[in-house]
Amino acid sequence: MFDKTTLSDKHILVTGGGSGLGLAMAQQFHELGAQVAICGRTESKLIDACNLIGEGSLYYVCDVREAANVASMFDYLTEKWGQIDGLVNNAAGNFLAASEDLSPNAFSSVVDIVLKGTFNCTLEFGNRIIRKLITESNNYAKTGNSPIRGNILNIVTTYTETGSSFVLPSACAKAGVLAMTNSLAVEWSTYGIRLNAIAPGPFPTEGAWSRLMPDPSIEEAYQRGIPLGRYGMPIELANLASFLMSPMADYIQGGCITIDGGERLMAGQFNRFVQWMPRPMIKQAFGAMKRSKK
Ligand code: COA
Repeated sequence: MFDKTTLSDKHILVTGGGSGLGLAMAQQFHELGAQVAICGRTESKLIDACNLIGEGSLYYVCDVREAANVASMFDYLTEKWGQIDGLVNNAAGNFLAASEDLSPNAFSSVVDIVLKGTFNCTLEFGNRIIRKLITESNNYAKTGNSPIRGNILNIVTTYTETGSSFVLPSACAKAGVLAMTNSLAVEWSTYGIRLNAIAPGPFPTEGAWSRLMPDPSIEEAYQRGIPLGRYGMPIELANLASFLMSPMADYIQGGCITIDGGERLMAGQFNRFVQWMPRPMIKQAFGAMKRSKK
């Protein structure tokens, strides 16, 4: 369903695109014809990533927590490209900690990257489109049938919905990002700006796993809890992101698509049976419990 023109004419910025899932998305967007830029805090990482992404890719050293830094990045990209049509808010911070041990600064360190960083980038992106529209037309506030001028994709998580132990700052921040997605999906439809989210389950990137997976035995047990029995591959997330950033998804507004091998549904009361016993044993147990007809 994808080819080299799927994202042609699109200019897309991926925050935190220097490694992991951000890099996988940036590579796939480039492969599908987009002009791609990435940002992050470490220049050497961004240079290496641009070499992987390929010709024409741009980078900007930026801490998304700093509004002025974000504004300068958007100035730079606007000058280079003329316009920015796509923003993927992927930059994140996370670590495992018992919530009672968190300091106020620890809470802020994650919330500032995830929630405030997403806000900073989203506002810069949206305001540029809105200002251009105001300059070009007096009718910018008219609702209904607005052409798509911009696409924002926010990377959240499956525990946005449920909350999660041991990652409280991330759970709070990602829930905020989802609220931002839903709020602006309505408020900015007027301007032709789409906002959607992806909620990834477990994708073992180096950045995430080194912070979130304490040891191999836990990793093994964790994997057994995924209905499809395996972790996600970065290309699978990149494919979903490419679809959502493409004109094929132009009528998807305010959506949050989960990609987790079914993991988030494991709360279903009897789902754990599949982990505890092989299928023939489950059937045998059910058979033994079946009441015989009188
Ligand atoms: N457990 C508890 N507290 C922690 C912590 C941990 N594992 N790691 C950091 N903190 C606390 C620090 O103690 C500090 O609080 P304090 O000043 O009260 O002591 C606060 O968080 C800030 O830490 P610092 O390392 O100075 O902040 P930073 O802004 O450089 O780092 C992080 C922010 C902590 C989120 C860092 O891991 C990061 O930048 N990560 C980005 C990449 C990432 O996390 N990727 C995974 C995404 S799934």
